[in-house]
Amino acid sequence: MPNRFRVRSLATLGIALLMWLPLASHANDAQTKMKYTLFCSGCHTADGRGSGDPRIPDMRNYVGYFAAVEGGREFLIQVPGVSTAPLKSKELAQIVNWMLRTFSADQLPDDFKPFDEQEVERLRQYVLRSELGDTRKALVTRIEEYKKNN
Ligand code: HEC
Repeated sequence: MPNRFRVRSLATLGIALLMWLPLASHANDAQTKMKYTLFCSGCHTADGRGSGDPRIPDMRNYVGYFAAVEGGREFLIQVPGVSTAPLKSKELAQIVNWMLRTFSADQLPDDFKPFDEQEVERLRQYVLRSELGDTRKALVTRIEEYKKNN
């Protein structure tokens, strides 16, 4: 019976997938990377260097510094590319944590606390618009100070 056979093989496939999922310890990371690819890499590229448009900052070995200075955590979530992304706060928290670890782990402060859903949900209520440039400039000055002392 071809039909019964199909149902059975689909069930087998489903069970196989269910058994495999918990074993794949990096399944979450892989999903997060896929979301970064879909929602962010068009502008930021797969390796974080940026598409070449001068407005897009190179995140490699830098973006982690924001997490080290006052006001930087807010900034990381309130940039429009993050706060207005069509993603749930939990997904955004995972993507930003992944992005920081992948592109700029060495610049993260020793006491870095990963973002969680609640913090992202709260911070993204505010979207940086006209003051974005000034805010970033002030943070970069703080980062320069931070670098001298660390
Ligand atoms: C349409 C292009 C675009 C997309 C899509 C995009 N960004 Fe951005 N991103 C930018 C630009 C441009 C900037 C510079 C600030 C600005 O003008 O918004 C930026 C800045 C940032 C910054 C601050 C970096 C710095 O050094 O100032 C972070 C963090 C960031 N984006 C993360 C993300 C994440 C995570 C996603 C996906 C959820 C994403 N962006 C999607 C264009 C984009």
